[in-house]
Amino acid sequence: MKELKIDAEPSYEYTMLSSPKRNLSNLPMNAIVATIFFGCGMILGWVSSGIDQTPVDFTGARAHFRYGLDRSDTLGNNDAMPKLAWLLSFPNSGTSYTGELVRAVTGFNTATNYGESNLLNDGTSELVYTSAFGAAGPFWTDPKINRHKPTNGYILTKTHCGSRCDVCGVDGYVENEHLFLQHCLETSYISKSSTGDLVKSVGTYDKELVARAVHLIRDPFDNIVSRFHLRHNRFTKLNDTESLERYPKTSDGFRAFCNDLSELHAQEEETSKFYHDVIDSIRNVPCHADFFRYIQWHNLAFVTTWDLQIPTLVVHYENFTTNFDETKGMLIEFLGQEAIYEPPTFVAGKTYRDYFSDEEIDGIAQMFEMLAMEKTWHYTRHYFE
Ligand SMILES: *[C@@H]1O[C@H](CO)[C@@H](O)[C@H](O)[C@H]1NC(C)=O
Ligand SMILES: *[C@@H]1O[C@H](CO)[C@@H](O)[C@H](O)[C@H]1NC(C)=O
Repeated sequence: MKELKIDAEPSYEYTMLSSPKRNLSNLPMNAIVATIFFGCGMILGWVSSGIDQTPVDFTGARAHFRYGLDRSDTLGNNDAMPKLAWLLSFPNSGTSYTGELVRAVTGFNTATNYGESNLLNDGTSELVYTSAFGAAGPFWTDPKINRHKPTNGYILTKTHCGSRCDVCGVDGYVENEHLFLQHCLETSYISKSSTGDLVKSVGTYDKELVARAVHLIRDPFDNIVSRFHLRHNRFTKLNDTESLERYPKTSDGFRAFCNDLSELHAQEEETSKFYHDVIDSIRNVPCHADFFRYIQWHNLAFVTTWDLQIPTLVVHYENFTTNFDETKGMLIEFLGQEAIYEPPTFVAGKTYRDYFSDEEIDGIAQMFEMLAMEKTWHYTRHYFE
């Protein structure tokens, strides 16, 4: 079997910044003292209630140490910039169009956690909140295009959160809600060092900046095959001729890619407790691990928005095809903005259900019934009816 080459994907996707919870003893003492004095209630609560009690969110504190102590309100958003509405999406489920639509019809820019691929002419990412407390992100989308910045409503902000590597083993993608939230807040960006060099960094921002969420859901079969196409594009970009030959952008190429991955991780899945209930239904389904991730991803996204207690709009990607005006209307209204301009043409995503046999679709349906939370199942069961 061919060994899959893994290109230099940004490692921030799967490695966490070290958790201050574990490393508190390593932090400079003056930083801790300063934080307590400047009234970071969460740390204070944690310190006074003793070690290892309720989980504490250190996201703000972590960035705080890096960015200094100029906090002047509880949120630290001194920019008079609206708060964020996450665009939560498992990759390749319609993120790009949704962002384009919002920018086009409102005339206002959107934001992204991935500043690294949204650069100004000088090669750096542009922060949304230039003076927000501790915020190392999010960043403006395509900042070279000098769009208006929204002055009210919410700023749609792309994040793919965690649990989404495509070439990785069980241990690489099974995660809990704690890690998932951290990944939702995680950013990558490019800035200039004091010597003028461009430096790539990972960052995070305070969850308090997030006030709403748009949760995108796409037909899992189309979504998973599209993810293969994305991987295929990477092979092309890397001129990985061997992979391009072995995995053409066809149904056969998809299956060859999935088979190699399955073989690579079979042992791990057979013995994993996370697969225990489902392995018999999906063992032979191509790219079943990506369906596992899809289910886990949506479960965790629902848990996250529930835990943050933020209003959440679920959008079915296919409703841009079947129900365009209403879907657009709901989205723009939810963002507290106005649709003023014409929407960009929506080119319906292709459908790839015919890449799978009826039997395979049944196997996946069984995995959904077993692993999807009520809420996830509620919003995905129609893909199996
Ligand atoms: C891609 O790789 C092939 C062989 O590995 C080489 O002949 C070709 O020149 C490369 N193309 C580019 C654009 O680098
Ligand atoms: C998508 O449209 C269908 C009707 O066409 C509707 O029943 C469904 O609720 C819509 N999805 C969402 C998430 O609003």
